[in-house]
Amino acid sequence: MSGQLAGQRALVTGGASGIGAEMARRFTREGASVVVADVNDADGKQVAIEIGGEFAHLDVTDSDAWNQLIANSEPFDIVCLNAGVSTHQNVIGSTSNYPLEKVDNDAYERIMRINVDGVVFGARAVIPTMVARKTGHILVTASLAGIIAIAPDPIYGLTKHGMVGLVKSLGPALEPHGVCISALCPGFVDTPLVSELAREYAKTFSMGVLEVSVAGDLAMRALSERIPGSQWTVMAGQPIVQYVPAPPFG
Ligand SMILES: NC(=O)c1ccc[n+]([C@@H]2O[C@H](COP(=O)([O-])OP(=O)(O)OC[C@H]3O[C@@H](n4cnc5c(N)ncnc54)[C@H](O)[C@@H]3O)[C@@H](O)[C@H]2O)c1
Repeated sequence: MSGQLAGQRALVTGGASGIGAEMARRFTREGASVVVADVNDADGKQVAIEIGGEFAHLDVTDSDAWNQLIANSEPFDIVCLNAGVSTHQNVIGSTSNYPLEKVDNDAYERIMRINVDGVVFGARAVIPTMVARKTGHILVTASLAGIIAIAPDPIYGLTKHGMVGLVKSLGPALEPHGVCISALCPGFVDTPLVSELAREYAKTFSMGVLEVSVAGDLAMRALSERIPGSQWTVMAGQPIVQYVPAPPFG
């Protein structure tokens, strides 16, 4: 098949829905063969059938499952560490609550396990093969909330800032080995993750909600620019831009 990703193999976690499903579709259109990985077997299999790809049941918080998946798979050229949740699953609670009010230990551990451990375990599992082959690109779906504040969901902001920090630090560490890692940092995107309240909140920022197709464009931009440790942002009505910190750090 022709396309920018012809002949490449891609793995997308959280590929059963939203941004992950959109990246899986776009990569397929660009010629890649895609493995959709998710805990949601029904929707994940549906996406895999739609794109003519494969489905793998994967709980990203399970490091043994990660190692098993990678050991039993042909090498991946592109790995999207995308699975993620917000603190209350549907991001923002009632505005009468203060932000940590409902974050009990279970809610806190859940988001830290999926958004942080899930990415670290995934990166740790896939990097050795990429380094051995001296090729590969890891895309981490962080968020604009990894760069700016998200006042109603500070723990979500914590996890996404953590992912940007991980990507920034791994970028130069992996570059000498021929491996690239980049962060995708979109604003609100129209997926099941974004509740009605979150959509209202987006308006207070004059931010809007992006169509999910932007996820494919964002991923393709990061892949084609291939800048180690970079962060790629997009907001409604604005073009995709690389976020570059102000001097003296930029
Ligand atoms: N939607 C937005 O506005 C937005 C903006 C910026 C970043 N993001 C990030 O994009 C990523 C995808 O979010 P989305 O909006 O597509 O949400 P979504 O809810 O549509 O999809 C998330 C997917 O992750 C899967 N998942 C959850 N826990 C998992 C686990 N333990 N193992 C494997 N898969 C698991 C779910 O089953 C689901 O298919 C997340 O990391 C999210 O934080 C979303």
